[in-house]
Amino acid sequence: MTTETPRGADRSFLFVLGSSRPDGNTEMLARAAAEQLPGDVPQRWVDLAGLALPDFQDGRHETDAWPVSEDEELLRQATLEATDIVIASPLYWYSLSAHTKRYLDYWSGWLAVPGLDFKRRMAGRTLWGVTVMSDHDEVVADGLATSLNHSAAYLRMHFGGVLFGNGSRPGQVKADERAMVRAKTFFDGEAPLARFPYEAGPAAR
Ligand SMILES: Cc1cc2nc3c(=O)[nH]c(=O)nc-3n(C[C@H](O)[C@H](O)[C@H](O)COP(=O)(O)O)c2cc1C
Repeated sequence: MTTETPRGADRSFLFVLGSSRPDGNTEMLARAAAEQLPGDVPQRWVDLAGLALPDFQDGRHETDAWPVSEDEELLRQATLEATDIVIASPLYWYSLSAHTKRYLDYWSGWLAVPGLDFKRRMAGRTLWGVTVMSDHDEVVADGLATSLNHSAAYLRMHFGGVLFGNGSRPGQVKADERAMVRAKTFFDGEAPLARFPYEAGPAAR
């Protein structure tokens, strides 16, 4: 099992945009962070609002294979091809947006696809979060951060943490100087192997 995230040219980033509006603050903040990535690191951007992805239907314990739509297949491939997955979700009701949550629900389906080996293949990759909210105190986004950390821990992924920004009207995040400064080095940060709170010991690298 691979437990190391490649740090150099072998990396490729998937940005999963989970806002319900185009050109939102969360995308702006994610793009500010992405601008700092080396030019030879491929970036793929997927806007979930632009996909026709129905609500996830739990067919994990059905005997018949469920039909896979074109957009689900696109997402599945994009997810499996990336070493680094960036969940860029606005804070909605103190958690992930519905678009983002739906995407993560599909991960449960992919975990159950015979032969896909989703869990083993995701192990060692890195999950990151970017969120913007109208609240000024990022402590209210604990639910979102915990959800991402635990999802990464479940899949034995690394977790690089969450880049927080403040804003409500589109473009407002650009006035959040602290967030824009943090964006410049966000992807240089440590991304330890994610742990559940009940797992003892220092996180392995
Ligand atoms: C459905 C919905 C729920 C929201 N819930 C919260 C919230 O719980 N806390 C908060 O601080 N802001 C909340 N907001 C404000 C958004 O986080 C804020 O407008 C953010 O800039 C939206 O990001 P976007 O521009 O990328 O779409 C909510 C906005 C919407 C539309």
